[in-house]
Amino acid sequence: MSGADVPVDTERKQNPGRIFHGRKQRENEPEMIKRRDGSMKETEPVIRVMTMDDFETVHALWMEIHGFGIRSIDDSREGVERFIRRNPTTSMVAVAEGKIVGAILCGHDGRRGCLYHVCVQEAYRKHGIGQKLVGACVDALAAEHINKINLIAFKKNEVGNRFWQGLGWTFREDVNYYEYVTNEDNITTYNP
Ligand SMILES: CC(C)(COP(=O)(O)OP(=O)(O)OC[C@H]1O[C@@H](n2cnc3c(N)ncnc32)[C@H](O)[C@@H]1OP(=O)(O)O)[C@@H](O)C(=O)NCCC(=O)NCCS
Repeated sequence: MSGADVPVDTERKQNPGRIFHGRKQRENEPEMIKRRDGSMKETEPVIRVMTMDDFETVHALWMEIHGFGIRSIDDSREGVERFIRRNPTTSMVAVAEGKIVGAILCGHDGRRGCLYHVCVQEAYRKHGIGQKLVGACVDALAAEHINKINLIAFKKNEVGNRFWQGLGWTFREDVNYYEYVTNEDNITTYNP
């Protein structure tokens, strides 16, 4: 990372979970640099709302993420379409160098926000993309008057837990998590 990036990092640390677009970059517009051959290259990822046109690419990305649990119904095209129809403005993708390199399924039930399948492609990690994605989801939920957001991180997911703690999210020791399955056909398969 160049010295020029330091102020951005400082700003990120002071505002955990909020979206930053880079100093010269306008919203939803990639910052570009000129390569030696004169062609242009994006230096900053663009964060934008996920639509069903992104489904195949995002699903392929999920399948790359070690340890992700992929559900046969919830994560199918029909399942994701149902989710996005209910939550059309809150799921995000990160686009860098012309391809989707990160994504979050994000929605709410009118009271609490929730984040699922938070991920960044391995080659693009540790550059602030995860933080930007989360910031965009937080902003989108806040715009819908959602006051609190929950998510589940497996205890054994060290990187995931460090990420949430790094972003300043609160680890709740005082709650137990319960679930009730209404459809046994919604089978979870864990990526190796
Ligand atoms: C978790 C994940 C989305 C983070 O994406 P990312 O783009 O690498 O994260 P960022 O670069 O925005 O990191 C933001 C902060 O999180 C923390 N963090 C992220 N990755 C970390 C790691 N490997 N070790 C320690 N801290 C880490 C740091 O505090 C970091 O801030 P810093 O760079 O200023 O130190 C990515 O590692 C991933 O896809 N992991 C696999 C899927 C997963 O575990 N998802 C979470 C499910 S709960």
